[in-house]
Amino acid sequence: MLERSNLADNAINSLHDEQYDVPFNLQNLNHTNMLFVAGRDTESLNGHWNFAVDLLDTGLRQRWYAMKPSAAEARSEPWDYDPYVGETVAVPSCWQMQKEKWYFFEGSAWYTRAWDYVEKNSNERVFLRIGAAQYDCKVFLNGEFLGNHYGGSTPFFVEFTGKLNSGRNWIMCCVNNTRTLDRVPMRNTDWFNYGGIYRDIEIIRTPFATITDVHVFLKPDNNYNCVHIEIEVDGPNGYLDFEIKELGIKQQVAVVSGKAAADILCQPQLWSPDSPKLYTIDCQYLSDSVQDQVGFRQIEVRGTEIFLNGNNIFLRGISVHEDDIQDGKVVTVEDLKRRFAHAKELNCNFMRFAHYTHHEMATKLADQYGILVWAEIPVYWAIDFENPATYRDAQNQLLEMIKRDRNRASVVIWSVGNENADTDARLKFMSDLCHSAREFDPCRLLSAACLVNHAKNKIEDRLADVLDVIGINEYYGWYEEVFDELIAIGENSNPGKPVVISETGADGFIGKGAPSSGFFSEAYMSEVYREQIEYLERLDYIKGISPWILYEFRVERRQNMFQQGWNRKGLISNDKFTKKDAFSLLGDFYKKLELQQ
Ligand code: GCU
Repeated sequence: MLERSNLADNAINSLHDEQYDVPFNLQNLNHTNMLFVAGRDTESLNGHWNFAVDLLDTGLRQRWYAMKPSAAEARSEPWDYDPYVGETVAVPSCWQMQKEKWYFFEGSAWYTRAWDYVEKNSNERVFLRIGAAQYDCKVFLNGEFLGNHYGGSTPFFVEFTGKLNSGRNWIMCCVNNTRTLDRVPMRNTDWFNYGGIYRDIEIIRTPFATITDVHVFLKPDNNYNCVHIEIEVDGPNGYLDFEIKELGIKQQVAVVSGKAAADILCQPQLWSPDSPKLYTIDCQYLSDSVQDQVGFRQIEVRGTEIFLNGNNIFLRGISVHEDDIQDGKVVTVEDLKRRFAHAKELNCNFMRFAHYTHHEMATKLADQYGILVWAEIPVYWAIDFENPATYRDAQNQLLEMIKRDRNRASVVIWSVGNENADTDARLKFMSDLCHSAREFDPCRLLSAACLVNHAKNKIEDRLADVLDVIGINEYYGWYEEVFDELIAIGENSNPGKPVVISETGADGFIGKGAPSSGFFSEAYMSEVYREQIEYLERLDYIKGISPWILYEFRVERRQNMFQQGWNRKGLISNDKFTKKDAFSLLGDFYKKLELQQ
């Protein structure tokens, strides 16, 4: 109890002040201070960090972050946790997967590590980048609170410039994964609520004049001959050099008030699933330089059809979560390469990265493998749609996703949510998200997984009017019974735009004690897929499918004897190896569709 020092001011305050966390919720680490990182050198801070769970936020109340390193015997008063010694965890990780005692822990947890800073270039700027931390991450440097980030699946940056000691520095992160009424998602999800710093954490140094954003895309004008560039810098007016060597492009572009833009005529080989051509782009501004690999393509809707580079396409997809039996929400390149190998085996050209922004490597590999991507923010089920703070959080997660991935040709759809009840508040909240997305990115389609009005067997979700593509989650054969309703939905609805079955499927448990028939049996799962395929083939209003789901995934709310904490709708078991019969049923169906295209 730090009652004898000014660290906790006054013990009574630190015990009785229930507004203790208000000063630490600035949400000042957000899309406005993102840094363009492609092609930059980074210094990894992955590895073992001191770690402690902190269910009651004693660390914020008693200001653990303000403690100084000291030998125990030299401390002048008792203490409840010493951030500089003790238990450690590997970063990146989800704490639930580190030790059994933390499997269901939900609350705050403290990460602490030393970092010895040596200036490399005079006037350099130093940033900390965290690839993702679930959900609220408060960052402290040498005892000073620098800010916090809301949102569990998008990257954020903290600038350390001018605050670093030469030599030893201490970085502390307090990560809180509590499900609350105002967060996005809210309290109830059908995926496991992991916690922790679960993607890479690294240091990035830049020159004083810095390139902060680079957005490069093929102008969506159906001419396929104009690359538009929009570059933002933090530095003086002047010029920057933009180059695409393989296209013979090297152009000086004027920088005015931090922005540079140009239209560059050229004839790029277009990116597509069959030909995922990527070009290296280089950008040099004063002494800063970045590089990215970008594909050029145009995705658009014409009436009820989806067109890629002027050709009509059908999205042969599969949905996927970030979940691993051993690593939780941590993904590795090997894990992602396996994901794409399985998608290719299914003859997919499309994947739905549900229900949140996936690791940046996922969209980079999708660019390389030629897989079209539906990317999504976790505006999932019930959300506090009336709350302006919740909207700010959702919009920030959307803009962070867009700014991180809008150079990824594979991403063709931004989804603003999943299965939300059609209320006035939700309509305004998600329409506003759509307007924000269009403002930040003119060359992708907008969608959401909407609900069907099963009383009328009709698509009449008002949000559909604002979307380019209507996602429909339907579970005929599982949650819904009468398959013929799928026909009726098409006949009763006249959405005038493409509809994608963003989810359909059934649980099939194949482990010890698996049922031989009925719900949760593999046989019944296959029967559902056979009937779904038979109906979906007949529905000409459907322009894509992403069945639920490639792999079984962890979830607290499913505890029957066949689920035991897992959603068993995976076409592949949670070992990410054992395929169920429905895998080949879907793969054969997609092969047939591919041959018909
Ligand atoms: C819902 C939801 C998914 C969920 C799935 C299921 O449609 O969107 O997140 O996992 O159905 O019930 O398995």
